[in-house]
Amino acid sequence: MSPSVIHHETNGHSNGVKKPHLDGFGTRAIHVGSEPNAETGAVIPAISLSTTYKQDGIGNHKGFEYSRSGNPNRNALEETLASIETGGAFGIAFSSGSATTATVLQSLGPNAHIISVNDVYGGTFRYMTRVAKVNQGLETTFLDLENADDETILAAIRPNTKLIWIESPTNPTLRLIDVSRITSLAHSHPSSPLVLVDNTFLSPFYASPLLQGADIVMHSLTKYVNGHSDVVMGALILPPQHAALTESLRFLQNAIGAVPSPYDCWLAQRGAKTLHLRMKAHGANALAIARALKASPHVAEVIYPGLASHPRNDLAYRSLAPHARKYVDAYIAAHPDAEGFPFGGMISFRIRGGMEQADKFLTSARLFTLAESLGGVESLAEHPAKMTHGSIPEAERALLGIGDNLVRLSVGIEEVEDLVADIEQALEAATATLSA
Ligand SMILES: Cc1ncc(COP(=O)(O)O)c(C=O)c1O
Repeated sequence: MSPSVIHHETNGHSNGVKKPHLDGFGTRAIHVGSEPNAETGAVIPAISLSTTYKQDGIGNHKGFEYSRSGNPNRNALEETLASIETGGAFGIAFSSGSATTATVLQSLGPNAHIISVNDVYGGTFRYMTRVAKVNQGLETTFLDLENADDETILAAIRPNTKLIWIESPTNPTLRLIDVSRITSLAHSHPSSPLVLVDNTFLSPFYASPLLQGADIVMHSLTKYVNGHSDVVMGALILPPQHAALTESLRFLQNAIGAVPSPYDCWLAQRGAKTLHLRMKAHGANALAIARALKASPHVAEVIYPGLASHPRNDLAYRSLAPHARKYVDAYIAAHPDAEGFPFGGMISFRIRGGMEQADKFLTSARLFTLAESLGGVESLAEHPAKMTHGSIPEAERALLGIGDNLVRLSVGIEEVEDLVADIEQALEAATATLSA
């Protein structure tokens, strides 16, 4: 086990009783799961690469036997995650976000039914429809959980509906789902399906779905939590009332074995320590860029939930995590003319023109690297129709609003003036032929 916690009640999974950590977000991110080593005094956990652990007698060990089943770095990261995903008590880490998804869906057993938000991440859609459907008879109803009324959602829940899968904001059109509404509906139904929120886009800083009644939160840690584009990893976080469910998922974590390496766990834990600072900077930079895009004659539409003009801007504000609300309120007070507030680092926009202009924009940007993925300190830009969402049939893409002129930005934490200038010059270059 990791060394004893000095000024926190531990969320480590060796203890029976789970109590929430009460310190501020940044304090938890830095201290929980990262206590000075009792023997050496090392302030930062050592990387423990050993695959196996000495036993002093058969079954007499110090909490570790074999590294797939548990190792100090993974336990430490899981403690950190359980603490920063506010309302959480248990963390379970996997070797990718996709392995996390696979493990959750496998836990539902044969012939289950689930409901999923209709524009779920493409890899999640692929696993639901081409793996779980074939291998375990999983049936998925894809619903527009943003606009469907209560009756429609309740009517979609069947006796064997075991899970509702939410992503908010959705990717890449950043539609917002009211998590509190969906969890109330789910838990009021006799089938009482679990509600899982993929909180990758907002990270534990901007949203706390467990405080909104969700049963499970999942993350692709590859994105904001690690934050430096150098680790592929995923995790589940569950609240205190789900100790038994946690145990069954932990059983699968070990049995399937899609576990992260100690080094990756160490890196992700290091990344998580600055999550609060990075997310504030991502949000402030994204808001500035969203405003610049909105002011540009070369842009037909900007989609950023923090902008006052976003149709669900009020829901964005209402759904902020408590620590994010504090930051956002202070930001609004300090920037009365901001036309919105920081709400994560993802923006999508429709450039005037079509494929040619989108392509020219993406190849003219100097600081926004043309690449898939998101959530790193460096700014990225991509073309959803041809890249991240290219596997979705064109007709379905059109229904979801993923056209040839749609560009998605993952706004990094470089100097904001440089980023705005880069966007403006790339827009000019991209649309030069249009205005000529
Ligand atoms: C929202 C979301 N969930 C899950 C995943 C899958 O995570 P990973 O790439 O770590 O397997 C991604 C990856 O892009 C994602 O964006």
